[in-house]
Order: sequence, then C-alpha cells, then structure tokens
Amino acid sequence: MCGIVGYTGERPAVDIIMNGLKRLEYRGYDSAGIALVGDDLFIHKKNGKISVLSEALDMMDHNDIRRYHSGIGHTRWATHGVPSDKNAHPHTDCNGEIAVVHNGIIENFAVIKKMLIEKGHRMRSDTDTEVIAHLIEYYYRNNNLLDAVMKAVGKLVGTYGLCIVSSREPGRIIAARNGSPLVLGAGDYEMIIASDVSAIIEHTNKVIYLDDRELLDVRQDGFKIYDLDLKKIEKKIEDIDWDIKSIEKAGYDHFMLKEIFEQPETIKNAFRGRAIRETGSIRLDGLRLSEEELASIRRVIFIACGTSWHAGLIGEYLIEEYARIPVEVEYASEFRYRKPILKQGDLVIVISQSGETADTLAALREAKSKGVKVLGITNVVGSTIARESDGGIYIHAGPEIGVASTKAFTSQVTVLILLALMLSRRKDMNADEMRVCIDQLHEIPDKVRLLLQSNASIRRIAEGFQDNTNFLYLGRGVNFPVALEGALKLKEISYIHAEGYPAAEMKHGPIALIDEDMPVVFIAPKDIIYEKVISNMEEVKARGGRIIIIATEGDDRIQEYSDHVIYVPEVKKIFSPLLTVIPLQLLAYHIAVLRGCNVDQPRNLAKSVTVE
Ligand code: AGP
Repeated sequence: MCGIVGYTGERPAVDIIMNGLKRLEYRGYDSAGIALVGDDLFIHKKNGKISVLSEALDMMDHNDIRRYHSGIGHTRWATHGVPSDKNAHPHTDCNGEIAVVHNGIIENFAVIKKMLIEKGHRMRSDTDTEVIAHLIEYYYRNNNLLDAVMKAVGKLVGTYGLCIVSSREPGRIIAARNGSPLVLGAGDYEMIIASDVSAIIEHTNKVIYLDDRELLDVRQDGFKIYDLDLKKIEKKIEDIDWDIKSIEKAGYDHFMLKEIFEQPETIKNAFRGRAIRETGSIRLDGLRLSEEELASIRRVIFIACGTSWHAGLIGEYLIEEYARIPVEVEYASEFRYRKPILKQGDLVIVISQSGETADTLAALREAKSKGVKVLGITNVVGSTIARESDGGIYIHAGPEIGVASTKAFTSQVTVLILLALMLSRRKDMNADEMRVCIDQLHEIPDKVRLLLQSNASIRRIAEGFQDNTNFLYLGRGVNFPVALEGALKLKEISYIHAEGYPAAEMKHGPIALIDEDMPVVFIAPKDIIYEKVISNMEEVKARGGRIIIIATEGDDRIQEYSDHVIYVPEVKKIFSPLLTVIPLQLLAYHIAVLRGCNVDQPRNLAKSVTVE
C-alpha cells in the first residue's frame, strides 16, 4: 500500500517521478504528491488520483519545475488521516527543508508527536508520517542527513519504506526500510528508488533489493548501503527480466482484462520446464528440499490472504486427494496471532502474489521462529517473502497490475497442481499416469484460449445482472474455492455483495435469501458430485432464483436448470479450477464495467497490503 519513488540524476526529476508514480498507482490512489529538491524544496500534493496532481503540475511553469534533478513522490492509501491535500505525502519539517515520503505505519507516532510538540515542533497533518520529518529535523546537524535519518528511524516502532530529501543537501536521497519494500535501480549516472520494480524497469534492469533495517544513501553517481549502526553493507546488483510491455495495457481497456487474456501464456509459464513428459516427473528445484525432507512431510500448511488463500484451498483438495498428505489452510492474519501448533514433519507454504503482504510475511516469520521449513509461492522475484522463505516456487506470471488478482491466481493453482502431482508421484502415481496428467496440463493453455472466446457472450450475460445487489456463488470440491474466488472478484470490483458457499451448504442457511433478486452462479462441471449439485439447482429454481451455470461442454441437460450456461472444456478434475474460474473473472469484469466502476483501482483497496 502506498507507492514511493525517488530520483536523482541528470534528467528532470519531475518526469521520472510522475511516470513512476503512475506505474505504482495500483498500490494506492487516494492522494499523491511530489517534492523536488534543488536550492529550495518545491512541494506539491493533491487529494485524488495521480491524474489530479499531474494536471495541477501541467498548469505550472514547465521550465521552473523541470530544473530540479532530484526529488521524491508518493501515491497514498490512507491509514492515519483522511485522504486530503493536507494529509497527502510528502510531509515536511517545521522549516520546509526536509521532505519525507512513507509507506507503512508508525505505531508509536502519538508518543513521538507529543514529545516533538513539547519541543516546539508544529504539526500540520493528521498522519503518522509527519512525525518522521520532524524527528529527522530534531536530529539534523552539519548537513548530515544520513546520520539524522539513522537516529530518527532508531526511535520508530512500526513499518516503513522511506525516502527523504533535504534542500540543504540537493542531489542526495536517503532511504530506509523496515517491513515495506524498497528497490534501488542503479542506472547510468542516475538512481531511482521505488516501492517496486515497475517504476524502474523502463530506466534500468539493474536493481538492488533493500532488506529490513537497512539505510540507503544515494547520489546520482553512486550509492551506499548501511545497517542501522551505519556499518557498510555490500549487496549484489541483480538483473530483472520484466520488460516494459508487461506493465502497459497493450490496447486493452483495463489491466484486469489484459491480465485475464494473458492466462494462456501465464499458465504455460508456470509449468514450463517443470512438467517433464519424457521422465513422467515434475521438477521443482526451487523447493530446495532433500529426498529425506520430502519423505518426512507429515502435514502441509498453506498460509495466505484473499485470492492467494483461495488458491491454497484448492491446494488442500489436490494434495489430500492425490498425495494423501493432510493439509491445512490458514488465513495469515489469524495464524500469526493464534499461537499455532507446529511440529516436526510440518511443511509451511506461504502463498503471495506480491510477496509483500504484511500478514503473510508475519506468519512466515512466526512459522520460521518455530523451527519448521517455510516455502514461498510468489510472483515477484526478490520480494521479501521470496527472500525470507527457505525455498519456493515462482509462479512467473509477470507483473499483475489490476488490483483484482486474476492471472496470478491461475498461476498459483498451476504450481499447486505441479506440487500435488510431484508429491503424488513419490507415493503411488506411476510414470504413465503422470504422463497422462502432463499431456493434459500442456493442453490447458489452448483450452483457456478457447474459453476466452466466450468473452462477448459473457458480456451479454453481464448486461442482465448489472443492477443486482446480491449474488451467490456455489460449487463443490475443488470448485468450492473457485466459487469463493468468483464472489471475491465480483465484490471487490463491482461493489455488489457476493458470497461463495459449498453448494450443499446452501440449505443450511443461504437458501433463505433465494428469490428472483438473488442470482446464483453454479460451478457444475461433470464430476462425481454433479447430480448433487443438480439437486441444489432444483432447490434454487423452485424459489424463483435466476441461475448462471458454468458447465462442461456437451452437457445439454444442464440447460433445463439454467437461465444462462457458460461451457468450459472437459478436463480431469485436477485441472478444473484453471478453466472454471475464467468465466467468473470475465463476468465480474463486465458487470463492474457496466456499472461504471474503476476495475483496475477499486475503492478502498490496494494491490499489496503491506500494513496490518
Ligand atoms: C485479490 O483480488 C485481492 N486483491 C486480494 O485478496 C489479494 O489476493 C490479497 O491481498 C493477497 O495478496 P498477495 O497474494 O499479494 O499476498
């Protein structure tokens, strides 16, 4: 949550910073601001989206604001203080010499604020961040910004990714990290600091990931990294392979739609080189588990939030059924505070697209502190979860910009399928059975491509439901988590209340809600519980409910129960969620667009939730 950018170099800083903020807007979009530093400090901040700030800057004297060659910027997701010009970042000290942008939460800000006010500091906002600017001012001596920041962050309790500039030291940016991501892009005589690489990749692919409790001292010709005792740290420069095309809309109206349509490729990327037909085996080298460690797994515990949690739930169905290993799926936010019991033989797997979700990261640390192995399934290479896990699997989905996760979900499910198959091969699945699965897995991208051709007809279905205020999603087995995911997609981007349930649970409560105003989406592929789901449809029909069904191609009988059917190709159960979720993503997308919602930046949400 919140995106921050810092630039120092030879180009006009305003261009790089504003462009970077636009790339990071998915992280927060309730207000934005910029501080440009030369002999003076130019600050401008605006309530609203980045476009509001951008328009305000466009009205100014271009030559004037383009004369600054360093500065910092921020796009906000409010925690302390309502979204407003006053609470937008950057925040400054009393003299307007120091500017700070911050991602995170300072838990002890009230105590620090009281102390600073007693010492005569004048606060102008309701934010926790402003105290940092004043605290740095308090310690700032002899134009040594690094020393002042080091002393200030030593007093902070909470999480922060910080960039700080001072008009007394133009061209210099100090950054600090604890719990909120920061990456440095090391260019040719210019340096860019950002919350993630999407603000950096069009300038350089050489990056350094900052770790917690590290300070970064940047000037256009170089950088130094320190620990909090100002001891120098040497870090490796890494190459990133995301290219600029992957963070642009490429002609689609929204990133979400582009990402839905990328799924044939992204699913393929998730299994490429990992499902080996010749040997009938699955290779997941990143797990870094020895044969002995694999053999000693007695229980798998998936920990995640939101959509990633839904993927974990699918993992539970698959691993228990195929590999016969007990699995539990935990909400990270609950796991971290409920004194979990972990024992020898437990394997913890955290799942996170961003690799930065605060609760998931805290759960990972909690599990590691109990001495168990923790693996990470992540998308963002170099993210904190990826780096702190003992091993893991990258899903290789490429940047996911739409706040509603789509391609990351199917990629997570793909690697969970691989994991289930790998563990099952070590038990009783033979090479021939595995080859059948691998062959079918290789066909999935084309099947998804085919399914995406239903886009126009799904839009037509959406037209009939855009005014509804409630929805129910029902599925069973591996498609129960898909029902949850379909409901989450709809609610987060269209603001329609939607619930997912196991279909058979309907008669234990939700059936009371059924009437002609409660559309029900059934996920009902032909499987062993198909007939049972049909009975649930009868029950809905008998109460006047409108029904949309996701069914298996060729299932003509289903039409007698449905108002609308969307067919998906027939596949083995293990692959079913990869197909059944696609129409649900499109349905949510079209309903949201028809309702005039901003699907890429839904209200109140942020792409990566780096605060509790
Ligand atoms: C998905 O559409 C959501 N925006 C959200 O639930 C998300 O999946 C959750 O915040 C977890 O994020 P992560 O995968 O980056 O950890």
